[in-house]
Amino acid sequence: MKIIRTRADLRAATAAWRQAGESIGVVPTMGALHEGHLSLVTAAKSTADRVIVTLFVNPRQFNNAADLAAYPRTETSDAEKLGPFAVDVLYIPDPDQMYPKGFATTVSVGGLDQGLCGAHRPGHFDGVATVVTKLFIQTDADAAFFGEKDFQQLQIVRTLARDLDLHIRVIGCPTVREADGFALSSRNVRLGSKARADAPGLYRALQAAAARINAGDPVADVIGAARAAILAAGYTEVEYLELRSEDGLEPLTAPRTPARLLVAAWIDGVRLIDNIRL
Ligand code: PAJ
Repeated sequence: MKIIRTRADLRAATAAWRQAGESIGVVPTMGALHEGHLSLVTAAKSTADRVIVTLFVNPRQFNNAADLAAYPRTETSDAEKLGPFAVDVLYIPDPDQMYPKGFATTVSVGGLDQGLCGAHRPGHFDGVATVVTKLFIQTDADAAFFGEKDFQQLQIVRTLARDLDLHIRVIGCPTVREADGFALSSRNVRLGSKARADAPGLYRALQAAAARINAGDPVADVIGAARAAILAAGYTEVEYLELRSEDGLEPLTAPRTPARLLVAAWIDGVRLIDNIRL
């Protein structure tokens, strides 16, 4: 696995692959890799001839300086974790490669970024959309792999690829969970042991709520009960808990498939998100 830090070196690698008629898959990440990220790498390896993993802690998508500062940076162990996967390139752009002096363009996906995480993290999805567009262009990839864990992000990325005529397939991959159902996230390392023990209550509440909605219980009642269950499990705040259509993420008051229940909640000073398909 080659570690590349500049656009020019990356272009040299991808141009050679293109010349040989090889397809390229990309897995964008912010590092602190875990089994969730690695499942995307496995999916990419099974689809594309060449695989690029990108690692860039994108300052533009953090709306909170403390969160950016606290974000884990584990480049060496990330490279080690990728070892067994025979990834071709780990692209770790220097910040000036992504945002050189005078950088002035923002990619903004209207509508989809309104609500859910977009409502609570102003500017976050503009930062994501801008960096993902750049990574798609820089890596010249045919396919990109994203987790359903960040479902709003996945739908925003699908939309920007379509709207901007980027020749890239955006592939969503299922959320990887611990044995107790807790979704893997780079932020989980910040949880104390009590919070970690309580954390699976979030997904349990989603599962119970999805089952009740599927059984015909009124959505508003079910969501109210699920909020209470999350707080009773040890979470300090439920930022949102909503039923939305998958395409377009429209708010739903009655079930329609495909739909998702999406949640963001705080525990031990850490903001966690999760979702479940109905
Ligand atoms: P990051 O949080 O590092 O996540 C990188 C990718 O891993 C995303 O597609 C995310 O959905 C996926 N992922 C995270 N946890 C997962 C899990 N438990 N199961 C499956 N996939 C999981 O998301 C970002 O970085 C950034 O916003 C990025 C897209 C890289 C743009 O900066």
